[in-house]
Amino acid sequence: MAISTSFIPTPSASTPEEKNFEIGLRPSNFEEFVGQEQIKKNLKVFIEGAKKRKEPLHHALLSGPPGLGKTTLASIIAREMGGNLKITSGPAIEKSGDLAALLTSLEPNDILFIDEIHRLKKPVEEILYSAMEDFALDLMVGKGAGAKSMRLSLPPFTLLGATTKMGSLSAPLRDRFGGIFKFQFYTGHEMERILQRSAHILGISLHVSAVSLVSNASRSTPRIANRLLRHLRDFANAQNSQTITSEIATKSFQALGIDESGLDAHDRQFLSLIVEKFGGGPVGISTLSAALSEDRETIEEIIEPYLLQCGFLDRTPKGRIITERGKQLFGKLQKNTLF
Ligand SMILES: Nc1ncnc2c1ncn2[C@@H]1O[C@H](COP(=O)(O)OP(=O)(O)OP(=O)(O)O)[C@@H](O)[C@H]1O
Ligand SMILES: [Mg+2]
Repeated sequence: MAISTSFIPTPSASTPEEKNFEIGLRPSNFEEFVGQEQIKKNLKVFIEGAKKRKEPLHHALLSGPPGLGKTTLASIIAREMGGNLKITSGPAIEKSGDLAALLTSLEPNDILFIDEIHRLKKPVEEILYSAMEDFALDLMVGKGAGAKSMRLSLPPFTLLGATTKMGSLSAPLRDRFGGIFKFQFYTGHEMERILQRSAHILGISLHVSAVSLVSNASRSTPRIANRLLRHLRDFANAQNSQTITSEIATKSFQALGIDESGLDAHDRQFLSLIVEKFGGGPVGISTLSAALSEDRETIEEIIEPYLLQCGFLDRTPKGRIITERGKQLFGKLQKNTLF
């Protein structure tokens, strides 16, 4: 069985070097941002309305699996609104005071982007409630019986939150967003457009015969597509070629241990658990969570969506089951007939 190499198992950007590589490929406007048509359509209406009223954009939550373009879209929104984008993340804000300082440093119409917003600590999160609702900061001054609450007003701003785990977000926080945008996996056609665009920027040509191979191996995820392309460019260049052909793609994937279906180590482990330990299902999510030592949200929001979208898995009232398609794939994985 082909084994995923270190750059494939997680769709998250890992090294600073990779982050720089990504920035170079990042679409800078709605036209370059491929797919997510419904989200773009609604956002354009929101943006136009806000601009006409000369108000900040509604607070918006961008939710979806890693690498689908949440951060990219946040920077496009900021550009369209003409506001400064200030970027932080849930785990980076340690204390309520840190968030208070960040909020009071905002200029009118700034966009505050909080990545991994589901990881905010509760006391920090609570600061956001009045900030989002009333553009106000409620602070406690003094201690004990003499403590008083004080309200500071904040400039009008927009909060953009991004999360891979919508289920971990508290209801009070979720309800304060004017728009919740759920990212979908990209279609084959969209992936092909993303690949051709990135190949152009990277100065390599991607032969039509290789496009669908790379697209299939990309897990319907632009970040993985770009990452694969970068490796394929190295392989092509090593052979003094400026074109990634299907032959080069197949050989490179074999050398790198990449699975043509785009499944990663977590997906395989998950599928094999259901097939081998639970007879193909149905099996409940808590049982799977215990068997894999993964929390339920990670399974539901990171592992399962891609398997569901590929039609390998089904969610039923009795639990998860492997579909016929999933069984066929599992058979191939076992016989090592993928590639
Ligand atoms: N719709 C798109 N069109 C073209 N390229 C895209 C699109 N979405 C994402 N990308 C590419 O994929 C890379 C990863 O996207 P991005 O960093 O925005 O994902 P993310 O959803 O924020 O991931 P994470 O949850 O890990 O933060 C970007 O550098 C960009 O080049
Ligand atoms: Mg991001």
